[in-house]
Amino acid sequence: MTVVGARPNFMKAAPIIAAIRDHNERMAISRGPAGAGDSQFPLQNVLVHTGQHYDEAMSDRFFADLNIPKPDVHLGVGSGSHAAQTAEIMKRFEEVLLREKPDLLIVVGDVNSTLACALVAAKISFDANGTRPLIAHVEAGLRSFDRGMPEEINRILTDHVADLLFVTEESGLRNLREEGIPDGKVHFVGNTMIDSLLAFKDRADASDILKKLNLQSRNGGHGSVKEAARYALLTLHRPSNVDQRATFLNILEGLEELANSCPIIFPAHPRTQKRLAEFGLEHFFVIEKESHEGKESRSAHAKGRIRLIEPLGYLDFLCLMAHAAVVVTDSGGIQEETTCLGVPCVTVRENTERPITVKVGTNIVAGTSKEGIRQATRQQLESKVSGTVPEAWDGRSAQRILDAICREIEKKRVL
Ligand code: UD1
Repeated sequence: MTVVGARPNFMKAAPIIAAIRDHNERMAISRGPAGAGDSQFPLQNVLVHTGQHYDEAMSDRFFADLNIPKPDVHLGVGSGSHAAQTAEIMKRFEEVLLREKPDLLIVVGDVNSTLACALVAAKISFDANGTRPLIAHVEAGLRSFDRGMPEEINRILTDHVADLLFVTEESGLRNLREEGIPDGKVHFVGNTMIDSLLAFKDRADASDILKKLNLQSRNGGHGSVKEAARYALLTLHRPSNVDQRATFLNILEGLEELANSCPIIFPAHPRTQKRLAEFGLEHFFVIEKESHEGKESRSAHAKGRIRLIEPLGYLDFLCLMAHAAVVVTDSGGIQEETTCLGVPCVTVRENTERPITVKVGTNIVAGTSKEGIRQATRQQLESKVSGTVPEAWDGRSAQRILDAICREIEKKRVL
């Protein structure tokens, strides 16, 4: 059983779902149905969507872009406080788990859905012997060492109830060892989000988002290779950055210099859109919330102001990211994607749980002060950063995960 719930889960789970499908197709062609005790056996995957994210732009669009099949089960949980959302997922997920009784549960990332479902599986009992599914956590071991971040709590707790921990970078191995998690549970597999990036990059390149946003240079735009104008891409959605007016204002002021030098495109998360209206910060933006269709005449650069658009799908966003001069973000995943693409990234946070993106990649952790943001964006625009791609971020992480999972399930079947 695989669980997804929120936007950053979809690109991490998609390659695993695809690897299971390919595995079953190979099985069907090469041997016909396998019997118990065979070391190779087909895998049934039940896909569960908790509904933590539910807007078309935050969920359905990603299923379409990433070719993820329709979920077998949709819990329809929606938004709420951390406690209400986590508790509601747990209640509804328990029923599904008791009905389906999977051998193994895969949870990905660090959102509330990840922890809620892992916790349910850790305490469930399918029979009098206390049988429960194995719990596999994809993207284990990342630590920001900031327990004020809800995701940090989700990461730590999920890792400590997991039976198989799939790690994306070397810091994860170190963190888990320091927390006393036995090495035998831990597998260094690389990054499934990068599997998705590599699998979909060509399709993303065919996106017409640059044209729609009037971001092609005058000579470019013919064929699939685009000549992009110079622009920056911005995402901000962390509660710590956008839920307090003073912090949000400070970040926007830190971006003024960049906004004067090139267009900043800002696909804004629903939370962020609500906050900037509440806080009366609209004057920093040109709000282009309507559909992009027919808007090619709009100015590419609203000098000094940030171009706010609706959240984008996976392929359009990947295209925008790949062609950007600099990406400014408070997301976790985008630090990794820009590292893989060799695009300069400025992280508007005090810390990162993904230090490899700073060590070998293209990321600078700028903090949230005005001056920190100004300096880091200037530095990233001027320097010709290239960085290297971290070990095992090679497009084969999902297959490594599947191989480890098959070995574990086989052990369980033999016992
Ligand atoms: C969640 C994750 C965060 C991740 C982010 C990516 C947790 C604790 N946080 O944060 O790690 O980086 O997703 O987006 O799990 N909303 C909508 N439509 C939606 C979803 C949300 O309008 O489809 C609005 C609602 O007002 C909601 C708010 O966004 O209350 C926050 O949604 P929520 O799922 O609680 O957390 P995110 O901020 O999206």
